[in-house]
Amino acid sequence: MRRFFSRYVTRQKFTTGAISKLKEQPRIPVDSIISSTTRSTTSTTHPSNEKFMLILGKPGGGKGTISSKILKDFPDMEHISTGDILRQHVRDETELGKEAKEYMDHGDLVPDEVMIRLVLDYSTNSIGNGKHLLLDGFPRTIKQAAALDESINVDVVVDLNIPTEIIVERIADRWIHAASGRVYNYSYNPPLNHGKDDESGEDLVQRYDDKPKTVRKRLDAYDKATSPLIQYYEKKGVLKTFSGTMSDKIYPEVKKWLNKMGMNR
Ligand code: AP5
Ligand code: MG
Repeated sequence: MRRFFSRYVTRQKFTTGAISKLKEQPRIPVDSIISSTTRSTTSTTHPSNEKFMLILGKPGGGKGTISSKILKDFPDMEHISTGDILRQHVRDETELGKEAKEYMDHGDLVPDEVMIRLVLDYSTNSIGNGKHLLLDGFPRTIKQAAALDESINVDVVVDLNIPTEIIVERIADRWIHAASGRVYNYSYNPPLNHGKDDESGEDLVQRYDDKPKTVRKRLDAYDKATSPLIQYYEKKGVLKTFSGTMSDKIYPEVKKWLNKMGMNR
């Protein structure tokens, strides 16, 4: 699998400014992003016991919160959050960050072509190193899922089903530490000192896309583009939905299921 990713990334190396380049040039069909050489090979199965895992759910549905609990219990897990990566690009003011910000601030999805390259690029070092990989925020469209299928077998999909009215309340209370992406909530997991990150003592900020109008657009984008993935992965027999309102009650069930799926570390 590592060989596939290395070859892919060398050929399709993601560079900053990708969005503007894609805008200037004729749009690259997703099909061509997956190179013809790799297309002819079947999806790679994982060496040893590595599992490739996804976490799905509405914006503000607790993907980041559940992921951080998983990472504590499963030290052999690497976590890639596309939202965190994009926000890092925004903070670093890279070309990608400047252009992705336009989409993110309006609650729109960043184009598939860019996200597929970004994720494959970031996954390169995490695949084939004996660790499980947890993708948070990708795929978000059927096209992204199809592109992923060209390269790997997804083993486990955790789907979080949280009522929308709970989400809207939570997002209003969410504060983050911008540099690390650590998430706090004044009614659920408040910081030790008001407005300060527990580890660095730096100021907490609210996400720009957490304004109520933008949250509604993100929820709409989820309904239209992302929710069909539930059926997509159900059909493959790898998805389990966890419903509820409390991450602390949901998480023990997630953990039990991961153990059942053969993940013990
Ligand atoms: P991203 O950062 O992935 O945002 P999202 O999916 O909208 O999800 P969030 O990170 O907002 O929420 P979460 O589910 O992680 O919940 P959390 O744990 O924080 O993406 C941002 C943007 O990037 C997208 O809109 C898009 O533009 C772009 N993008 C990213 N990936 C893309 C892709 N693949 N394709 C195209 N575009 C892409 O929890 C929420 C709050 O609830 C927190 O405050 C938390 O503390 C609190 N909470 C959790 N559990 C509880 C509880 N039990 N009780 C009370 N509060 C709780
Ligand atoms: Mg998140």
